[in-house]
Amino acid sequence: MALAIPLGFLFLFSMFSPAWGVEFLFNGFNGTDANDLICEGATIIKPSGMLKLTNTSHNITGHAFYPKHINLFDKNSSSSYPNASSFSTQFVFAIVSPSSGPGGFGLAFTLSPSPKFPGAEPGHFLGIFNSTTDGNPSNHIFSVEFDTVNGFKENSDTAGNHVGININSVYSQASEPAAYFVKGAHKEEVNLENGDLIQAWIDYDGEAQKLNVTISPINVKKPEKPLLSETINLSTTLQETMYAGFSASTGEQASSHYIIAWSFAVDGVPRPINISQLPKPAKEKGSSSYKPEIKALIIALAVVVSMLLLVLLFFTLYKGRHDEFESLEDWELDCPHRFKYKDLYAATKGFKASAVVGAGGCGEVYKGVLPSSGCEIAVKKITRNSIQGMRSFASEIESLGKLRHKNLVHLQGWCKKKKNLLIVYDYIPYGSLDSLIFGSEDNFVLSWAQRFNILKGVASGLLYLHEEWEQVVIHRDVKSSNVLIDADMNPRLSDFGLARLYDHGEISHTTCVVGTIGYIAPELARTGKASTRSDVFAYGVLLLEVACGQRPIGSGEFILADWVMENHVMGRILDTVDPNLDSNFVVKEMKLVLELGLLCTHYKPEARPTMRQVVRYLNEDEQLPEVENWNLVDSRRVSEMNSRFMNILLGDTITSYPSSSIGEMSCSSMNAGR
Ligand SMILES: *[C@@H]1O[C@H](CO)[C@@H](O)[C@H](O)[C@H]1NC(C)=O
Ligand SMILES: *[C@@H]1O[C@H](CO)[C@@H](O)[C@H](O)[C@H]1NC(C)=O
Ligand SMILES: *[C@@H]1O[C@H](CO)[C@@H](O)[C@H](O)[C@H]1NC(C)=O
Ligand SMILES: *[C@@H]1O[C@H](CO)[C@@H](O)[C@H](O)[C@H]1NC(C)=O
Ligand SMILES: *[C@@H]1O[C@H](CO)[C@@H](O)[C@H](O)[C@H]1NC(C)=O
Ligand SMILES: *[C@@H]1O[C@H](CO)[C@@H](O)[C@H](O)[C@H]1NC(C)=O
Ligand SMILES: *[C@@H]1O[C@H](CO)[C@@H](O)[C@H](O)[C@H]1NC(C)=O
Ligand SMILES: *[C@@H]1O[C@H](CO)[C@@H](O)[C@H](O)[C@H]1NC(C)=O
Ligand SMILES: *[C@@H]1O[C@H](CO)[C@@H](O)[C@H](O)[C@H]1NC(C)=O
Repeated sequence: MALAIPLGFLFLFSMFSPAWGVEFLFNGFNGTDANDLICEGATIIKPSGMLKLTNTSHNITGHAFYPKHINLFDKNSSSSYPNASSFSTQFVFAIVSPSSGPGGFGLAFTLSPSPKFPGAEPGHFLGIFNSTTDGNPSNHIFSVEFDTVNGFKENSDTAGNHVGININSVYSQASEPAAYFVKGAHKEEVNLENGDLIQAWIDYDGEAQKLNVTISPINVKKPEKPLLSETINLSTTLQETMYAGFSASTGEQASSHYIIAWSFAVDGVPRPINISQLPKPAKEKGSSSYKPEIKALIIALAVVVSMLLLVLLFFTLYKGRHDEFESLEDWELDCPHRFKYKDLYAATKGFKASAVVGAGGCGEVYKGVLPSSGCEIAVKKITRNSIQGMRSFASEIESLGKLRHKNLVHLQGWCKKKKNLLIVYDYIPYGSLDSLIFGSEDNFVLSWAQRFNILKGVASGLLYLHEEWEQVVIHRDVKSSNVLIDADMNPRLSDFGLARLYDHGEISHTTCVVGTIGYIAPELARTGKASTRSDVFAYGVLLLEVACGQRPIGSGEFILADWVMENHVMGRILDTVDPNLDSNFVVKEMKLVLELGLLCTHYKPEARPTMRQVVRYLNEDEQLPEVENWNLVDSRRVSEMNSRFMNILLGDTITSYPSSSIGEMSCSSMNAGR
């Protein structure tokens, strides 16, 4: 008992007298000594031993200061202006930003004449200053800030995540983005506000006037090179007795600020913190100032909302991907002729207008180069409102992709994307037959030999489609603009079979007639049913067109087939020959072509030859039967029908198709007109 009084006296003495050569260590704040800390504002000591300076409420401040004031000047000095003492501190802190978004403001190690800061403001002022006291030399406040928001004066503390040395002001005399040096040179960034434990060292050499600030993650030992090393004379700033501690604040943005351990020493090396036993702050769960029931409700709602958002996000992403590329259905994956949209997009440079090499009624044709193989391709882009039965459509294209004939343009494949259907062909660099016959460019005239060869080639291609392949393929749109001419002046028939495919989306429209005015067989116009015979009719028109150099339908009531028939009846069939040929033709062949043209355009389908017969006639393997006035009887009816048909169409589509190109009006313009 006798010892109790002096011990108690000593304890009181140490509590309230200034401390020289102060040295202390808080290895966590759950020891009894921590209860003596001067805590203000939002500061609490957590049961786990963490000093929590602020929670995530807005515009709050928190302070925690060592209870004893510290003498920072050597009392023995004889000089009236002594130098401030050296001091060192090490502490471990954590800043936990809310999970909902960026956190804010910061915490500062502070040496201040008073542990209380009346009138101090939160936010940028860090709970230390306010707008009137900021920058005042009479503050005598030194602090090192660990700030997570852009500084008070934007031009000085530009980085949000930074460490700064502040004297009497929130303005930093020196600041650096939060980082530490690895092996002296390489800098590693430190994210101050992600809730990780961070160590900090502040070392001041009073004699050398050197202040060093160093930080590192908890698992990295003190880097040799400090983050900030500044020559600063603290002699005028610091007063004889000072309080050491921490201040933190929140503002518009808010984080929880924790000090987990703290060691301090004047004129000496602080005792090391045992970092192996430090608690770690929990991640912020957001606002928690509600009753448990309400909290549960909020959590339940949040779960539901976030799940909905996830679903929404999923669909948005899915749709986004769908928009940009395409989603594959299982059956599509097995289609060898299916192209990836992004490949075609790349090949045509994004379907650039300058890549357009042709524009038919059914859509534009783009030239492209496949990036993978360097192959030149032609991509026909068909815009359709809906393609029903994509599966059967695809299987049909798949089978068309297998067609191989020297007089057919090879259909390489297809691709669908939303409302667009893309058909990929070999690229044929020379124009279409129709441009060679009617194009006035260069005064180029196809010779008769060339024309005859082309007509034979087209017949051969059509024969292949009709009879020589495993399935009967009806072209449905035989016309001069669908005959492409390759470098050897051989014809390549394109767009075969597609007309049939177009029907997939239009089955309900029994009025659907696919073809091109002037090439449409009378029975096709009547019934809408295409057959190999209607292809033969169109081929017959093509024969006459190439021989006469005239469009199938001219101005007024002119119908090429009728006109040739009239001349034939009058015994002057050769008067119909293309004047551009300048009489350079083989009369026998010319007569054969013209008469075959008349035979093929017979109004009765059953009177027309098959393509096999056509090929035999052209090769002179078989004698063409005498042409009599087969057509004439009914020609008036045919022409009447054609012109009636035309009127319907013109009424609908004249706006987009000049009358001079009626002959080229084709399938989709008719579809569009309905
Ligand atoms: C945060 O601290 C302040 C001040 O102590 C207090 O008023 C407030 O309720 C706390 N907020 C939360 C969410 O704990
Ligand atoms: C402080 O808390 C830690 C756990 O957070 C515990 O291990 C330690 O024993 C506590 N110390 C005291 C003095 O209560
Ligand atoms: C925080 O303080 C600022 C400045 O005083 C004020 O503009 C802002 O509205 C406050 N925010 C909150 C959430 O109280
Ligand atoms: C200051 O002076 C006292 C006695 O005068 C002496 O005991 C002490 O060691 C001196 N302190 C320093 C830091 O020189
Ligand atoms: C303060 O430090 C400077 C530089 O180290 C030294 O020259 C001066 O004598 C010191 N003053 C006192 C009073 O110790
Ligand atoms: C700033 O704080 C001082 C006291 O520290 C107080 O007198 C003053 O009124 C405060 N100014 C403002 C604008 O709050
Ligand atoms: C500050 O850092 C420099 C350079 O790393 C070092 O030379 C100096 O001793 C350090 N001073 C203190 C007080 O730690
Ligand atoms: C620091 O400032 C004080 C007061 O102005 C002065 O007496 C002292 O010599 C300065 N120390 C150095 C190292 O410049
Ligand atoms: C640090 O704490 C651990 C666990 O409490 C202990 O085993 C270890 O010896 C301590 N290290 C030091 C240097 O005190």
